[in-house]
Amino acid sequence: MDTVTLKIFRGNTSGGEMVSYTVPKTPGMVVLDAVHYIQRSLDTTLACRWNCKAAKCGSCSAEIDGTPRLMCKSRIEEYPSGEITVGPMRAFPLLKDLVTDVSWNYRVATKIPSLVPKPEVSGKPFVLQQEDVERVQEFRKCIECFLCQDVCHVIREHDKKDAFFGPRQMVRIAGLEMHPMDGINRREQLKNEAGIGMCNITKCCTEVCPEHIHITDNAIIPMKERVVDDYFDPITKILRKVGVLPTDKKASFSSVPNGLTVIKQENSSSKS
Ligand code: SF4
Ligand code: SF4
Ligand code: FES
Repeated sequence: MDTVTLKIFRGNTSGGEMVSYTVPKTPGMVVLDAVHYIQRSLDTTLACRWNCKAAKCGSCSAEIDGTPRLMCKSRIEEYPSGEITVGPMRAFPLLKDLVTDVSWNYRVATKIPSLVPKPEVSGKPFVLQQEDVERVQEFRKCIECFLCQDVCHVIREHDKKDAFFGPRQMVRIAGLEMHPMDGINRREQLKNEAGIGMCNITKCCTEVCPEHIHITDNAIIPMKERVVDDYFDPITKILRKVGVLPTDKKASFSSVPNGLTVIKQENSSSKS
């Protein structure tokens, strides 16, 4: 019988080790199938998180041969050596075996206000150009697997979770900032609280995204350009002052959890 050997991390916060399991190969088998075989037939105490087995729920993220990937989207035949290492995502606190605590990502998400329609379109159906739909549609494909967060060195190596929201949240903010009906100016948050300046465009996040979102080129770089225009480009400042370039009339906001977002008064009045 054709077999594959999986070396899987087994352990918890007190420590752990790589344990080898030999699993019979079946046609079209993915790493998650092999993990399920181990749970069913070899060791029922092995912990892993999964849900859809269709690369759509974002639950089964792990590090396979050292690369952040979805276990349900990684075919055994892609690893011809017959030996595959599987470990938990290293950027997040370990709970048990392949399961990590990714709750930090959800806490950060609560700091990003949802879309607040511009006053002139509030309560009306949105009429959008197709190119505007396509621009933000890419960002809506995110399945929140957090593989991009896991690979980002700012989070993974430097643990700057207090200063940088990470690529997943940059995608989220881009989908709102580039939405033509959004009435909130998100650039202050990008510059300060979200720490977009900490990204140095290594593109590692883009490489691991299972939804093939162009995180760096389409989300982070255009938002960095907007922040530079608003805060650091003296020529843009002068051109806006003399009326050659339009002034952004979007309202700024107090960064508090969604539902409690407060549009800052001084900017709201300037919009009318
Ligand atoms: S491009 Fe930026 S966000 Fe993406 S992995 Fe590199 S530093 Fe992190
Ligand atoms: S942007 Fe891509 S890699 Fe990051 S969480 Fe979303 S789907 Fe996963
Ligand atoms: S099990 Fe849902 S993405 Fe893998």
